[in-house]
Amino acid sequence: MPLQPTWAIQTETRQHDLSQFTADVQPVAGAMGAYVHGLDVADMDYDQLGRLLHAFKAIMLRGQSNDLSIADYVGFGQQLGELAVDSYVEPPFADHPQVMGLVRDAASTAYNFGGDWHSDGSYLEQPGGLTVLWGKHVPTHGGDTLFADMELAWQTLTPVFREMLDGRRVLHAATGLGQKVAMRKKGDYLGFDRSLDLERIEHYHPIKRTHPETGSHSLFVNQAYSVQIEGCSDDESAAILRFLFDHSRLPAMTARMVWEPDTIMVWDNRVTAHYAIGDYGGQRREMYRLAVIGEMPI
Ligand code: SIN
Repeated sequence: MPLQPTWAIQTETRQHDLSQFTADVQPVAGAMGAYVHGLDVADMDYDQLGRLLHAFKAIMLRGQSNDLSIADYVGFGQQLGELAVDSYVEPPFADHPQVMGLVRDAASTAYNFGGDWHSDGSYLEQPGGLTVLWGKHVPTHGGDTLFADMELAWQTLTPVFREMLDGRRVLHAATGLGQKVAMRKKGDYLGFDRSLDLERIEHYHPIKRTHPETGSHSLFVNQAYSVQIEGCSDDESAAILRFLFDHSRLPAMTARMVWEPDTIMVWDNRVTAHYAIGDYGGQRREMYRLAVIGEMPI
């Protein structure tokens, strides 16, 4: 695999045996991502869903029923694992505190939630495992979600660099570099409770993360929350992290997942980072998110 220069990195298209799926699966990019037709969240084949997630890391389940209720949606999420309740954001449905509403009206100039590269809740002791996002009302165009394949990001580092990082930990903080900027702009973000001390939510996690089910290795750093490599000086850490952030979002690592009506997306935060593109001003975007609690990263 040619590695020089880094900005021109070339990777091989991941090959998948699509005949193992009864659903209609359209891969999105060479690295990761798939659009899936024929899987209904109200009557889910969880074994197939799990295999799709292992293969593609982020999947958009198209053609969901218009009549799907919030209770059914939460029921689907609960089959994937224990759902988190976010302490900073007021839930839109009192009976379902696990649902986080990411809603932006056409006229809003508020912070675009998720508008920096991140892996959900990586500052927590047990960061997010899977995330589920229901596009209840999506823009006609714009508002896509970008993903980076962090398994590929790890694999495409040189052996020398991997060896240096292997066994090292990085501090993830809720008020990470990018997030500090974002939070200042978040003034009118609905339901955001500023009285809570975000500074205290920080944890060290291994830079090389091992997936608990597949055993694969991925690069577990992200621009929003990863702030300091343990044992390095500030300057060393900042330079290495900057390189890793840039490396992991090289175009060949990414997939741009395009929203359509009646779509529910599921992604695995252990092996991806994502970025909600804030390019839909003037249009309403109404999303409902469920976060499945993950394990302590190893
Ligand atoms: C998120 O960052 O969790 C939200 C992604 C999106 O709104 O596209």
